[in-house]
Amino acid sequence: MSDTAMFAMKQVSKSYGSAYTLHPLNLHISRGELVALIGPSGAGKTTCLNILAGTIEPDAGLLHIAGKPASSYASGKHLAKAVGIIRQQFDLVGSLPVLHNVLAGRLHEWGFGKSLLSFLFPQDKHIAADALNRVGLSDKLYDKTSHLSGGEQQRVALARLLVQQPQAILADEPVASLDPARAEDVLAMLVRLVQEEQLTLVSSLHSVHLARQFFQRIIAIKEGRVFFDLPTADVTEDHITDLYQLTAGHGMDER
Ligand SMILES: Nc1ncnc2c1ncn2[C@@H]1O[C@H](COP(=O)(O)OP(=O)(O)O)[C@@H](O)[C@H]1O
Ligand SMILES: [Mg+2]
Repeated sequence: MSDTAMFAMKQVSKSYGSAYTLHPLNLHISRGELVALIGPSGAGKTTCLNILAGTIEPDAGLLHIAGKPASSYASGKHLAKAVGIIRQQFDLVGSLPVLHNVLAGRLHEWGFGKSLLSFLFPQDKHIAADALNRVGLSDKLYDKTSHLSGGEQQRVALARLLVQQPQAILADEPVASLDPARAEDVLAMLVRLVQEEQLTLVSSLHSVHLARQFFQRIIAIKEGRVFFDLPTADVTEDHITDLYQLTAGHGMDER
């Protein structure tokens, strides 16, 4: 396996019950790539991202993450050095100050003792302060996280990723709960940070417009299969129409 691959899937599949959620899938994502995953609801995007993140195990096939078989990562702690995750719902602890949520990005580095201590006496506060500065929230260090707006909370989640220092970021509809202006703003920031840190980014997106605007490569998933996998410049309006077209048995009249 070439070491330019950040993610390599070979015949990876997943089923819940009898039907395939993901049909056997081959996927190669190089280090430094910016990839958007698009497709209708229920297509399998989240399942695909969770498999790439090592949080759900495929039924069959081979997955390599950063050049190593996914199964060779002994724990989430080891995987966290390779892969960071950001989701639509932010996954922050609203009752804690921003500072603590950002420092949670270091939990995999610190032993349990130091982590526990950090909740009483924040350790390495300057690391969190630097990260918050880079996402434009330097004045929010001690604010209660739930008091921040949605866009600000997602920027806190970005700061937490900066502190985690993974090699790749997997984002599952990271801006779906934000209004269009905030969505563009947060996605622009995510992409800028990924480029500055020379990371790999794979993000599912609701918005084809945002996928086109920020990503070099678009992978479309439909009914658990890759529908197309193209450089953004080669994706036509016909591709998009076909992708989101309802198929018989999924609510469209048969004509
Ligand atoms: N834990 C699960 N148990 C049963 N079915 C699931 C589970 N997770 C996903 N699915 C099914 O797999 C399909 C793909 O889901 P998902 O990956 O969430 O799609 P997307 O993110 O593209 O909307 C859906 O039909 C969904 O109902
Ligand atoms: Mg999803």
